[in-house]
Amino acid sequence: MKISFAKAALPAEGALVVGILENRELSATAQQIDRQTGGLISRALAASRFEGKKDQALLLVMPAGLDVSRLLLAGLGKVADIDAQAAQNFGGNALAQLLTAGDQLVTIAVDEFPGSSLSAADFAANAACGAKLRSYRFDKYRTKEKKEDKPSVKKLTVSLADSAAAKRAFAPFESVIDGVFLTRDLVSEPANVIYPESLAREAKALAEIGVDVEILGEKQMKKLGMGALLAVGQGSEKESHLVVLRWNGATDDAEAPVAFIGKGVTFDSGGISIKPAGGMEEMKWDMGGSAVVIGLLKALALRKAKVNAVGVVGLVENMPSGTAQRPGDVVTSLSGQTIEVINTDAEGRLVLADALWYAQDRFKPRVMVDLATLTGAIIVALGDHYAGLFSNDDDLATRLQAAGKQVAEPLWRMPLDEPYDKLIKSDIADMKNVGGREGGSITAAMFLKRFVKDTKWAHLDIAGVAWAKKDGPVTPKGATAFGVRLLDRLIADNYEQK
Ligand code: BES
Ligand code: MN
Ligand code: ZN
Repeated sequence: MKISFAKAALPAEGALVVGILENRELSATAQQIDRQTGGLISRALAASRFEGKKDQALLLVMPAGLDVSRLLLAGLGKVADIDAQAAQNFGGNALAQLLTAGDQLVTIAVDEFPGSSLSAADFAANAACGAKLRSYRFDKYRTKEKKEDKPSVKKLTVSLADSAAAKRAFAPFESVIDGVFLTRDLVSEPANVIYPESLAREAKALAEIGVDVEILGEKQMKKLGMGALLAVGQGSEKESHLVVLRWNGATDDAEAPVAFIGKGVTFDSGGISIKPAGGMEEMKWDMGGSAVVIGLLKALALRKAKVNAVGVVGLVENMPSGTAQRPGDVVTSLSGQTIEVINTDAEGRLVLADALWYAQDRFKPRVMVDLATLTGAIIVALGDHYAGLFSNDDDLATRLQAAGKQVAEPLWRMPLDEPYDKLIKSDIADMKNVGGREGGSITAAMFLKRFVKDTKWAHLDIAGVAWAKKDGPVTPKGATAFGVRLLDRLIADNYEQK
């Protein structure tokens, strides 16, 4: 779907979207339409239960007096509540109503809202962003989709007086959307298509836009001593990889980078501690953390962010076989610490242990944030709305939460207190990889903490939010890419030169 911004004028074809406030005060465009149609909008408002509330919409077909085939009245809510997020949701919800309705062109008419903190240009840019995010589809494997189920919309035009300002405001969104779409594609792909080597190849493609990409294979990782990460992949036919992505956008090349570390388990069968069959197919998206890191670096490179950023992703497949690690095995991590592997299904933390150590040792980052679909326990605790946030630094935690709030990717801070640490004591090694059922996400995070020295660090457990079971305003059902927009905002607000 192509997006453009045009000077206000009622379109001659396609579908037209007009926002309606909850107090039903009509915007200039709505008034013009009302005049041209003999009061269609006022009469429709009087005859229906549509009240202009957020998320409400009323579709009018073949409106007499207009050239368009459809007029969608879309709720804006209260004028005081209109912010960037509300504008994105407005665009996303409106697009969803029209995506498969039959029209190729959708025009969203935007006016200034007296009393709103958002200018018409910012509203327009955010509405376009929301619509584009919602238009995402992963349909490459559908060969028999019916015509009426396929999207008809090819082009979205947002019309407003100051279209040039809206276009400028939209430019950085476009880069982030490209990053989000890459992440969603990678997460949606099945595990026979995306495995460590092919995922590394996808990351390597970012070299084209100026990202420096290094790929380590098993031989190199063995030499370095990454015994924890390698143990997870040793049961798989597929070779494990570690990918380092670097975007050097700061004016000072030597400035310490911000680092992002991703869990990239391309399929998590559980290994010898094998998972039950029901729902196991979901474990193709156990590389979601790594896909967010890759998508984020794409976004940063595309918008030429003035920051030095590093991504480190540990890519492995967790399979049971004659060469797989066994429960009870002891492995030596890159840090030198030994780990008793009680449960081979607690594999993500083994991968991250080595990836975190490597990132902090080699790059001495200003801050480091890891993302992982790490525990089922975080879904029990927080459901699918908040991701779990764990951090050894209050300031970093606050910054992350603020960024998350702005892009509607909310984070709930969880504890990392010392008393939880004793739960992962081992009788035979420095630690064990599971701490029992209670506080399962916390003991997982405590495990990771043992691989962080004095670097400012945060861990985001995204197991509940990486995949949506139903449509949201700007995320269709499926891979969400939760984290890409959040971390892009974190960087823009805190670590980027102005
Ligand atoms: N990848 C899973 C966590 C997960 C579960 C993500 C459900 C998304 C949806 C992780 O590797 C795992 O298997 N964790 C175990 C840990 C347990 C063995 C201590 C879990 O959460 O059950
Ligand atoms: Mn697992
Ligand atoms: Zn896993």
